[in-house]
Amino acid sequence: MTIQTRPLGKTGADVTVLGYGAMELRGEPRGPALDDKDAGRLLSAVLDSGINLIDTSIDYGHSEELIGRHLAHRRDEYFLASKCGCLLSEPPPSATPPFPHDYRPENIRAGTEQSLRRLGTDRLDLLQVHMSPSPAQMETDHTMEALQALQDEGKVRFIGMSGTLPHLPDHIAMGVFDVFQIPYSAVQREHEELISAAVSAGAGALIRGGAARGAPADDKAWRQGPIGLPEGEGRARWESSGVEDLLEGMSRLEFVLRFTLSHPALSSTIVGTSSLDHLRSNVAIAENGPLPAELYESAKNRLRPPGGA
Ligand SMILES: NC(=O)c1ccc[n+]([C@@H]2O[C@H](COP(=O)([O-])OP(=O)(O)OC[C@H]3O[C@@H](n4cnc5c(N)ncnc54)[C@H](OP(=O)(O)O)[C@@H]3O)[C@@H](O)[C@H]2O)c1
Repeated sequence: MTIQTRPLGKTGADVTVLGYGAMELRGEPRGPALDDKDAGRLLSAVLDSGINLIDTSIDYGHSEELIGRHLAHRRDEYFLASKCGCLLSEPPPSATPPFPHDYRPENIRAGTEQSLRRLGTDRLDLLQVHMSPSPAQMETDHTMEALQALQDEGKVRFIGMSGTLPHLPDHIAMGVFDVFQIPYSAVQREHEELISAAVSAGAGALIRGGAARGAPADDKAWRQGPIGLPEGEGRARWESSGVEDLLEGMSRLEFVLRFTLSHPALSSTIVGTSSLDHLRSNVAIAENGPLPAELYESAKNRLRPPGGA
């Protein structure tokens, strides 16, 4: 079996519905300990499994460097997405997200050039504005001009927005982004309709948090929970919904990941893992594809409504 591919909006790229989110490669103290050899094995396995989309960021510690070191020689095998607006120097270990961002041209250019060096490439397929700044801030900072200049120079092929409420509707209305990266899962449905709106407007949709940070997989992951929700909220939503009755023998993780894959507008969900076993199991789940349509509808009926907290 192979992982299904979908068009990424109008970019002309066909991306696997399961992508690889490389945040788990950031290293300690924010991420798990992972030595260079294990990171190399994991990244090779990502491509060997057929995944053709990798998402990273300046803000993910060692992630860009590891991708460059272990995968630059296979650069034509993956669609490479990173982010901009992040500061060049790593936040101190004591800092907690959200980290400060600077969307002015000088920082955007310096960050992109650093990403290209770290990633061992001469082009990013997608450069996403990180942390969903307001359109007003981007206008004041001349952010779009900076992105356009990098695109004109061939350093960046497509421009994206890592968008969330409250600014995401305005970002879609701007009509300038090729791709949106948006959080979504069975326990985090706030952006469900906006994902469809972004795609109806012609963009591609990358879904993050699609394994709900492993939320239903085990107790450790439940404590972590989806980014953007108060601690414990993902678990509370799952448990109060009664959706567990619908699993039909699937593991919770399989159900959640296939629920995410069922969003009709999804191009790819960029699931993060530091574990080879988890990667293999996510690939096997993705090969099973979306949930049957009736089951997806029943699950949505039990889970909280898209906009509701
Ligand atoms: N744009 C943004 O602001 C932003 C914010 C956050 C994330 N992202 C991107 O989105 C990607 C994914 O986001 P996310 O980390 O929030 O959500 P996610 O992919 O839903 O969850 C990742 C977490 O789930 C665990 N996991 C993965 N597969 C598993 C499995 N089969 N069984 C048990 N646990 C499993 C991973 O731990 P293990 O390492 O133990 O597998 C990891 O802690 C990131 O890597 C990053 O590329 C972007």
